[in-house]
Formats: sequence, structure tokens, C-alpha cells
Amino acid sequence: MRISAPVFAVLVLVLSALPADAIVGGREAPVTPWAVALFDQGTFFCGGALIAPDKVVTAAHCTFARTTLGTRDRRPADLVAVAGRADLDTSEGRAVGVAALWRHPAYTEVSAGDDVATLTLAAPLPYRPIRIADAAPGQARVYGWGRTGEFGPPSRRLLEVDVPIRADADCAAQVPDYRPGGMLCAGYPEGGKDACEGDSGGPLTAAGELVGVVSYGRGCARPGQPGVYTRLSRYRDQI
Ligand code: ARG
Repeated sequence: MRISAPVFAVLVLVLSALPADAIVGGREAPVTPWAVALFDQGTFFCGGALIAPDKVVTAAHCTFARTTLGTRDRRPADLVAVAGRADLDTSEGRAVGVAALWRHPAYTEVSAGDDVATLTLAAPLPYRPIRIADAAPGQARVYGWGRTGEFGPPSRRLLEVDVPIRADADCAAQVPDYRPGGMLCAGYPEGGKDACEGDSGGPLTAAGELVGVVSYGRGCARPGQPGVYTRLSRYRDQI
């Protein structure tokens, strides 16, 4: 059967929009003071997690800003970390500047792993940091202010969604270039719940401890496309 170009275009649009009920498929998070929102010259760009009173862990790819020509390093002096503020349209919680930025020296692109960075804050925050733990297959929870669907708007309120951490064999079968040592993947085979654009750098927790950082995915919440996270236990000694 021959399909005309306009019909094909419409089909592609409709099909690609289907899994976009997409944090996708979550709910508003309760008070989560170790969840951090990162701003560059006043614009939200990524999530993070407070791992010490003056240290935030995020994704290495969050330390680059897109420009018309490519990317540039974000400058610590332009950055502000906000904690204790679930609703970004309020002034709840605390905002603090960034004194220094560390990016994993081996980081090149998300699909190659080592997608981890830390920000040293200009002053300690008065919130309890979250502890880093080993990840194991089973229920986990991801938090963020990112898009609520693959083509949806970002959220001004912190959302959370429960997703299962998958066995490395499942991840390797679904994610090209999956690296078990430094990555983990999470999601349902049928999709529907996931992190999405803008959630990067944000926390994945299991039993109240930090196990991962939102790194990448193919689309958001698509069936057979788990979200990929940096496996933090691997980097404990470096961050
Ligand atoms: N790279 C995205 C960001 O910068 C995060 C993507 C996560 N995607 C996913 N399907 N889990 O915000």
C-alpha cells in the first residue's frame, strides 16, 4: 500500500504523541528539602540533590548550556541552587550561590556514561542531605520539575513518580551502549511513567536513599524505553 507524504506525516505525529501522557505519570511530591532546583541567570535548567549541607550532585550534561553555535560551560557565578521550594513560583526555602563546579573528567556525552557533576555551594543549606546508597532492582522514585509529557510543558511544582529499577540484563537489551557499572535504568515495559526533559540531574531514590541521577532516555515514558540514570554508588569516592 502506498501512503502519501502528508498522511505519513500525520501518522508519525499521532503515533509519536501516543506515549506522551507522560515527570510523566506522576503526582505532586510532598516536602522534599533535599531536592534541588538549579537556575542559570534566573532560568531553571536542571534538578539536583543535596548530598552534604554545601554540596549538590547533578548530571555532568547539566553543566553545559546550549548556544546557537554549540555548547558552553556554565559559570558557577551565574548559578543558583534552590532547596525547600516545591513550587517554583513561591519564595519558600533557600536560594544559595555556587562557589565551584566539578564535572566528571571522563564525561563526553550522556550515552557514554559518567554523567555526574557536583556543585559546591557558597554557603551551607539548613536541610538534611540525602544519603547515597547502592541500587538494586526494585521500586524507586524519581523527582523533578521537568516536562509532564514528551511534548508537554515543564512543571512549576515538584513532581514524583515511582518506577522500578530494572535488572542490568533488561537495560542492556533495551538501551544501546548501556554500561552496567556506571548506569542503571528504570521504567515499566509498557512505559507511561518516567522522567523527561528538565528532570535531568534530579534524584532517583530507593527506600529514601539516593541511588541515581536522571541522565537520559529515548523520548519519555515510551514502551520499551526505560529512563537511564547515573549509578551513584559507582562515584561515591569521587563526589
Ligand atoms: N536529558 C534530559 C534532561 O536534560 C533528561 C531526560 C530523561 N529522560 C527520560 N526519558 N528518562 O532533562
